[in-house]
Amino acid sequence: MAIRHFLQFKDFSREEFDYVFERTRWIKEQFKSYQKYWPLSDRTLVMIFEKASTRTRLSFEAGMQQLGGAAIYLNTRDSQLGRGEPVEDAAQVISRMSDIVMIRTFEQDIIERFAANSRVPVINGLTNEYHPCQILADIYTYIEHRGDIQGKTVAWVGDANNMCNTWLQAAEVLDFKVHVSTPPGYGLNPDLVGEIDPARCRIFADPMEACRGVDLVNTDVWTSMGFEAENEARMKAFADWCVDAEMMAVANREALFMHCLPAHRGEEVTAEVIDGPQSVVWDEAENRLHAQKALLEYLVLGCVK
Ligand code: CP
Ligand code: NVA
Repeated sequence: MAIRHFLQFKDFSREEFDYVFERTRWIKEQFKSYQKYWPLSDRTLVMIFEKASTRTRLSFEAGMQQLGGAAIYLNTRDSQLGRGEPVEDAAQVISRMSDIVMIRTFEQDIIERFAANSRVPVINGLTNEYHPCQILADIYTYIEHRGDIQGKTVAWVGDANNMCNTWLQAAEVLDFKVHVSTPPGYGLNPDLVGEIDPARCRIFADPMEACRGVDLVNTDVWTSMGFEAENEARMKAFADWCVDAEMMAVANREALFMHCLPAHRGEEVTAEVIDGPQSVVWDEAENRLHAQKALLEYLVLGCVK
């Protein structure tokens, strides 16, 4: 059977997400009631980081340990990858010594090439283009607070970055809508998102209009990792794309606020919103742990129930 990877959100079907969300719920419940669950004992996750991380490293490392397995952290700077060993060769070697691999890197092409040469499943822990593990946890968080996301509307305010691209894929797979508002010059990349279906995604010049009547408001940093050289120009261009109380006020009364973190209060979001009653950012962060444990279980063992 072909090895399954999680390189983009659309790699899984709606049925698979339903299964993973159900397993997330059960695994979280076991964890919260201090029940030992070690389905991955003797299994090893290798985590390769080419960019900084707090949540992703911690949630994968703790998650693998909690499932009875082990996690090994590799920073490309300290490995032969950082000295030019081909990704294809590294994949051959690393996948002979492990049961599953997670990679955080720059171009999506790097992780695709790794996966094509891997004997074990590969998970995207963030690339310039996508962040599927974060959206997995975010949608699980939405479901926990508000129920099914099908038919709902999500507003994306800010940079059309890896998070935004992944929300658009999730909307296709799980059947919800996305409103996108970005500053001029920082819009969606057609090579990545393809032709926009107006029934699925609407583009708004005014971020306030993008938030009107939505069920979830989402933003992220103005400058993602790898784009630091553009920071000064971005600070000016994004000044009006700060999620504030006025934007939240035009969303549905029950609307939630999400941010994958790390956040910059006073830039992409006000302190009033991120620290306010509609914000579920700490649940999102915690759910990285539970959702990724379900993902690890599914990719290593397949369906267990
Ligand atoms: N949200 C997220 O992926 O956080 P880290 O960069 O800390 O892993
Ligand atoms: N868009 C951000 C997300 C960080 C978790 C970045 O890529 O830096």
